[in-house]
Amino acid sequence: MATTHEVPTREKARSGAHAAKAFAAQSATSELGPHTIQRRTPLENDVQIEILFCGVCHSDLHQARNEWSSVMPTVYPCVPGHEIVGRVTQVGSGVKKFKPGDLAAVGCLVDSDRTCRECQAGQEQFCTNFTLTYNFPDKHLGGVTYGGYSDEIVVDERFVLHVPSNLDLAGAAPLLCAGITTYSPIRHWGVTKGKKVGVVGLGGLGHMAVKFAHALGAQTVVFTTSPSKKEDAFRLGADEVVISKNANEMQKHAGSFDFILDAVAADHDINAYINLLGRDGNITLVGAPDKPLAVSAFGLIMGRHSLSGSPIGGLPETQEMLDFCGQHYSTADVEVIPIQKINEAYERLVRSDVKYRFSIDMASLK
Ligand SMILES: NC(=O)c1ccc[n+]([C@@H]2O[C@H](COP(=O)([O-])OP(=O)(O)OC[C@H]3O[C@@H](n4cnc5c(N)ncnc54)[C@H](OP(=O)(O)O)[C@@H]3O)[C@@H](O)[C@H]2O)c1
Ligand SMILES: [Zn+2]
Ligand SMILES: [Zn+2]
Repeated sequence: MATTHEVPTREKARSGAHAAKAFAAQSATSELGPHTIQRRTPLENDVQIEILFCGVCHSDLHQARNEWSSVMPTVYPCVPGHEIVGRVTQVGSGVKKFKPGDLAAVGCLVDSDRTCRECQAGQEQFCTNFTLTYNFPDKHLGGVTYGGYSDEIVVDERFVLHVPSNLDLAGAAPLLCAGITTYSPIRHWGVTKGKKVGVVGLGGLGHMAVKFAHALGAQTVVFTTSPSKKEDAFRLGADEVVISKNANEMQKHAGSFDFILDAVAADHDINAYINLLGRDGNITLVGAPDKPLAVSAFGLIMGRHSLSGSPIGGLPETQEMLDFCGQHYSTADVEVIPIQKINEAYERLVRSDVKYRFSIDMASLK
């Protein structure tokens, strides 16, 4: 039997909510297209933001296409986007940090329980009760949360960040995921002058990692499968660039790294990088390919190497990262696109053909 799906309009919104424009995937195999969603009416501690730019993370693509079905199955329609910058249009009566007209940013988290040990330590990314910006149960409206491929969003002020006023907004948007996801492990593992640091995969995350490692004074080596990115890697701050398909070039670095950040979005041989670590060296995965990676026990045993992962970052560290970027006048290198080009952008992401982040100009959704 055919069912009718009622699309809410601005006039016909649920009580306590209003309609907003968005772009959504309706299934794992359909292209993204225009869609109407509900946003809640700002509550006491809420900030309503007109979205100006939203970065395009490879996680958006993984989830739009349900590639993480075993861990985080996608609920459709899915509105991706967790690299959000915009301008505050309205605030609830209890909001202290923002007023209408301010710049504001939202990353991968829009809520958490605020009471657990992790939340109290400002490490909300480890809260077992957090709410992700999209494809996560929405405590206010039911259904799932909808991300930044939209003209507006309403978020509790604890999860809203300040954007340094000297930063280009299109380039600042990707800091909210690509920036914090690389900054956090780089700080955690003590990247600094005198350390040798590798970055694997020069995409959205990878190019931010190169900028941070270089800014912190580390000797920075980029591993790429794309020879065409070599010059850019040097410009972004690499001291050396290795084409990872070349075994001889790889071998020259055996046993020499203090830390390697792996930001590859697809299946690859991680053992080739574990072998490049020096004694007690660590390799951290931020890339999240859908299939498990095979790890050689000997690669870890010899040299007492360690393999870790790292998810995004907490709110205080995200603000610290934004302020660090403000001080260094540093943002992501972006190609600005209208929302109507999102499907083309996804195809280019799959081909590693992005320099180095797509940032959607949300004026195109009006
Ligand atoms: N841990 C977290 O919290 C977190 C947060 C955000 C994103 N992620 C994940 O991190 C990954 C990277 O995201 P992104 O947005 O930076 O993606 P991206 O812009 O597509 O960059 C990924 C890069 O990986 C390299 N690559 C792609 N396919 C490869 C293959 N088959 N073998 C070797 N290298 C390959 C390419 O770099 P080269 O051309 O230089 O080889 C590519 O540019 C994704 O899986 C994403 O979901 C995780
Ligand atoms: Zn992301
Ligand atoms: Zn918590």
